[in-house]
Amino acid sequence: MTLLLEGDGQLAALLGPALGGDVVIVEAVAQLYRRLNDDLNVDLVVVGPDVDLTVALAFAAGQRVARPVLGVILLRRRVNTSVLTQSLRSGVREVVSIDDLAAVREACSRSRDVSRSLRGVVLEGKAHEGGMVVTVFSAKGGCGKTTMSTNLAATAATGGTRRVCLLDLDLAFGDVAIALQLFPARTIADAVGLNSQLDESIVRSIVTPHSPNLDTIVAPVEPGTAESIPASVVSDLLRVLRSMYDLVVIDTPPAFTDHVLAAFDNSDLYVLMATLDVPAVKNLKLTLETLTLLGYPRDKWRIALNRADSKVGLSPADVEKTLKAQIAVQIPSSRDVSASVNRGVPLVLDDPNHPVSVAIRDFAKVEFPVHAELASALRKDRRGFSMLRRGGTDSDAR
Ligand SMILES: Nc1ncnc2c1ncn2[C@@H]1O[C@H](COP(=O)(O)OP(=O)(O)OP(=O)(O)O)[C@@H](O)[C@H]1O
Ligand SMILES: [Mg+2]
Repeated sequence: MTLLLEGDGQLAALLGPALGGDVVIVEAVAQLYRRLNDDLNVDLVVVGPDVDLTVALAFAAGQRVARPVLGVILLRRRVNTSVLTQSLRSGVREVVSIDDLAAVREACSRSRDVSRSLRGVVLEGKAHEGGMVVTVFSAKGGCGKTTMSTNLAATAATGGTRRVCLLDLDLAFGDVAIALQLFPARTIADAVGLNSQLDESIVRSIVTPHSPNLDTIVAPVEPGTAESIPASVVSDLLRVLRSMYDLVVIDTPPAFTDHVLAAFDNSDLYVLMATLDVPAVKNLKLTLETLTLLGYPRDKWRIALNRADSKVGLSPADVEKTLKAQIAVQIPSSRDVSASVNRGVPLVLDDPNHPVSVAIRDFAKVEFPVHAELASALRKDRRGFSMLRRGGTDSDAR
């Protein structure tokens, strides 16, 4: 979400649509700070042209330290080298003249790219005594958790940049093995009741390989086995998996079981699924409230809307309004998804250019950036600096 700090209502109404994305107008600096405190989904603040420069720069300098993922863009009626120099020193990402709304929109889009990449790196950094752990969850069944987790794991493993493990925590009805056409010799149940502490060699013995960079740990074959698996096994398993893999993706059952809570406790990112129907959205709202109550940080949420193009009288915008949160990825509806499950090959591998595959791959790229992508986003962000080095003037100060 973007906040536009602008006290003049008319000007705000003109600028708002030019910023792209979801924009909320705030009239005063105090209101801006309040809003930032309340909503961790804000990734960009655009400071209007009449806000005092000293106030704007103090704000940017403070946020650079307190919240480095947040971008600050400064709008001015006239841009000169002095304003530009001071702004960039204070951590403002770009300074743009309000005469060029196309440039304003581009600057906002560049800043969002940088924020997204930085978010991924911050999360990776936290996890990087080892790999990153991602839990895919929805409290309502059938929203697409298994579809998302299998395709997310498969796309992340493609290209050989990371080793990925997909863990099926839907212990009673897990269908990762079917979705990937695996014939496992061992399951997670084989990690229970061992005399020795769970370690790498035990994990290796229960893993079912899928492809060179993708391993799986599948759910027990007997549905009744779930009760005999203590939640502590999940925490132990994730500790070891983190040290062995760059990315661990967890598929879950549609309920807050102890195993799921152990997964949330040990995750860097929660992919929370819904579809365009009232029960699914209501359950996601309850999920978000539950996560908040339990103290799971909001900056780890990513909302994924599956079958997002279904014409059912509810739109993605309605969902965002109800949840008061942004949707991170929209996956279209397609019968090819079920066909791919029946074939046992994730759609991202079978048809990488399919709109469903593209949506999931783009999401993975943003959330699990490889260094080249981050470098490119940061390169774009440094345009202002290189322009300064070239000795920019008033006219080219964008
Ligand atoms: N984008 C989509 N378009 C069409 N069909 C889909 C899509 N996503 C999932 N499906 C189908 O919907 C059904 C439910 O999907 P999936 O198994 O991924 O959901 P789930 O959340 O894992 O369900 P459960 O809660 O039962 O584990 C499957 O038949 C799947 O093929
Ligand atoms: Mg499932």
